[in-house]
This record gives sequence, structure tokens and C-alpha cells, in this order.
Amino acid sequence: MLTNDQVESFERDGFLVVPDLIGVQDCDALRGRAAEMVADVDETKVSSTFSTTGAQARNDYFLASGSGIGFFWEVEAVNPDKTLNRPKELAANKFGHAMHDLDPTFDHFSRRTGMGELAADLGYGGGLLTQSMYIYKQPGIGGEVTLHNDHAFLWTEPMRTLGFWVALEDATTENGCLWALPGGHKIGQRSRFRRDGKGSTALEEWADPYPTEGLVPLEATTGTVVALHGLLPHRSDQNRSDKSRHAFTLHVMDPAAEWVDDNWLQRPDGLPFRSF
Ligand code: FE2
Repeated sequence: MLTNDQVESFERDGFLVVPDLIGVQDCDALRGRAAEMVADVDETKVSSTFSTTGAQARNDYFLASGSGIGFFWEVEAVNPDKTLNRPKELAANKFGHAMHDLDPTFDHFSRRTGMGELAADLGYGGGLLTQSMYIYKQPGIGGEVTLHNDHAFLWTEPMRTLGFWVALEDATTENGCLWALPGGHKIGQRSRFRRDGKGSTALEEWADPYPTEGLVPLEATTGTVVALHGLLPHRSDQNRSDKSRHAFTLHVMDPAAEWVDDNWLQRPDGLPFRSF
């Protein structure tokens, strides 16, 4: 699927933008399924918001979503009295994190659209699917995702985590596309998010943060897959535009590596990680 130049580019930069990998029909089907799921959410019962800049994510509901389908609201969509300030389909932040194993449409999208072949070309043949997310980045209020690498959240020994970020709509600098630091995967690990042994989680940060200079925007048209090395620093801005920026992310680990038992995401015995 990939040329030698593309594989070399991924190894050099830590990311690879692959346009038109996923068909528009598959993107539309996933958006349709997510819309059905939002319609089923009872907005009087789910109060979890998600933000990378606050502590909202570190709770039992978030931890349970590692082996289920959790739903999170956008912070700016929730009033102080826990009611929504807009229709729920415009208030969703994301679904996560096991839809690829629990929902047939997400299973198809994850396993039957070419991402398995892409993973194999990048050295992850037979890779296990560890995490999926449907991310809304809503118009006007879509939250910032601060600079991080994904291995900090999906730790393996040794480091063998690969991420796919799929544009379900055109992503631009205007509506909050990804930004990444070319070659930044060679800097090494500078943070880690883990279970703390007391039923909660903690973010450990090394002395030196990632450099914020030199990031480049990864604009992507619908159906584009961006492959991300597990150590690559990346971020995305708030979306203050009037256009949504739906995306799907999928993470893969090398089955020869170890999934450590203090990762926040843990599966019960009956729901092991599976391959493509
Ligand atoms: Fe990420």
C-alpha cells in the first residue's frame, strides 16, 4: 500500500498523511452511526465532560469507558446547573474507547477499510486494536487538545504504539486540525498518564516539556488517515469556526510488546484486545 518514500517519511517525521484511504461512504456511515448513538444518550443521566486541560476526565466513568462505550460532553456546552446550553448533537465531545469491539459499524470501519494494511506497512502487522474514539470538535466550542504523545496514555514495553487519526470531515487550521512536531518522536517520552493504585489516575510530567516551536498543521480532507508514531508530540486548537471537525481515532499495539497493568485503559478477561 505505501511506497518506500512514504515509509521513510513516517520514520523521519513521526507522522504520515495518507489522503483518500477511507471511502466517503464509510465516513458517512460512521457519522450516521455516531448520530444514532448521540440520539440515544439520556442527557439527564450522563454528566461527564472531557477536557485535556482540567481534571474532569479522571473519574470512574472515564476509567470504565476503556472497556465500554462512554460518552462525554464538551465543557463549554454544559451550564453550571448541569443542563446543556445547546442541542445534544452539538454538545458532544466524544465517544470512547472500545467501540471497535462493541459496535458493528465501528468494527467494520476499524477493520475493513484499509487501516490493517496501513498498519502492516508501518511495521504493525498483526497489531492489536487498543482504543477507538469518535471526536466531534464542535463548531464554536470544540475544546483544545494540549501537546502530548499517545504512548503516554497507551503505554507498552517496549514502546510499540501506533495511532491513526481519520478525518470524517475536512480538517483545516480554521476548525482545529492536528498540529505535529516533525521528528519530535525522537525526543523521547516526557509524560505519562497512569493508574495511581488508589482507584484514580495521575499525569506525571518530566522536567522538560515538549518544545512548542516548529509544529506544522496537518490539514486533511475527508477520508484522510494520519498515522502517528506513539512518541510524536501533537495537539489541536480550539474550534472557534462555524464548521464541525468530526474525526475517528484508532490505536494499535504490537502484540509482541507488553500492555502494562497500570495503564488507565484495562480490559476484563472476557474482552481481550483483538487484531484487525
Ligand atoms: Fe493524541
